Amino acid sequence: VIRAATPADAAAITTIYADQVLHGTATAEEVPPPVAEMAARLAKVAVAGLPWLVMEANGAVAGYAFARPYHERAAYRFTVEDAVYVAADARGRGVGRALLTELIARCNTLGLAQMIASITVQAGDASIALHERLGFHKVGEMRAIIRKFGRWLDVVYLQRGLSITD
Ligand SMILES: CC(C)(COP(=O)(O)OP(=O)(O)OC[C@H]1O[C@@H](n2cnc3c(N)ncnc32)[C@H](O)[C@@H]1OP(=O)(O)O)[C@@H](O)C(=O)NCCC(=O)NCCS
Repeated sequence: VIRAATPADAAAITTIYADQVLHGTATAEEVPPPVAEMAARLAKVAVAGLPWLVMEANGAVAGYAFARPYHERAAYRFTVEDAVYVAADARGRGVGRALLTELIARCNTLGLAQMIASITVQAGDASIALHERLGFHKVGEMRAIIRKFGRWLDVVYLQRGLSITD
């Protein structure tokens, strides 16, 4: 079941995210945010009128996806950035695909124009493959802009058109 996240999901989302903060390169954060901070992030996305979705399986949150404004300046308002995180034990079974598909559909309904994904290349092939399967195309790459676990990491940018195509 994919549904809108509620404040009650903040703890489960924090747990899934903390695994990538501490052990992965999908995020450039190095200190896991506390549950209250995650709840504040959920609220910020809600205030922006953007979707934050969770997939629930067997009563637990298997993964989540959200869109946030790509840039704070007003004229960027039709462009969002996405993020998708799936619990380690639920990966490779279509959860990420289902979440991102629904996120794109909701952003289309909102009349948004573009969705951007910024993906740490060393995070693995799964995120890039997931985005390419769902219509994103690579538009750029920046070298060595992240330093995590004692390594320099590259970031690749992918972009997908949404409802406004003119
Ligand atoms: C990236 C991530 C969200 C993908 O979610 P998932 O549920 O494991 O992926 P899915 O099972 O839905 O697979 C999505 C597509 O990617 C492909 N894919 C998945 N894992 C892959 C891998 N390791 N290598 C290559 N392709 C892969 C699948 O083949 C699938 O395409 P298909 O449906 O056409 O077969 C998940 O692995 C994850 O949370 N990783 C850590 C956090 C992260 O990198 N998040 C992205 C930050 S934006």
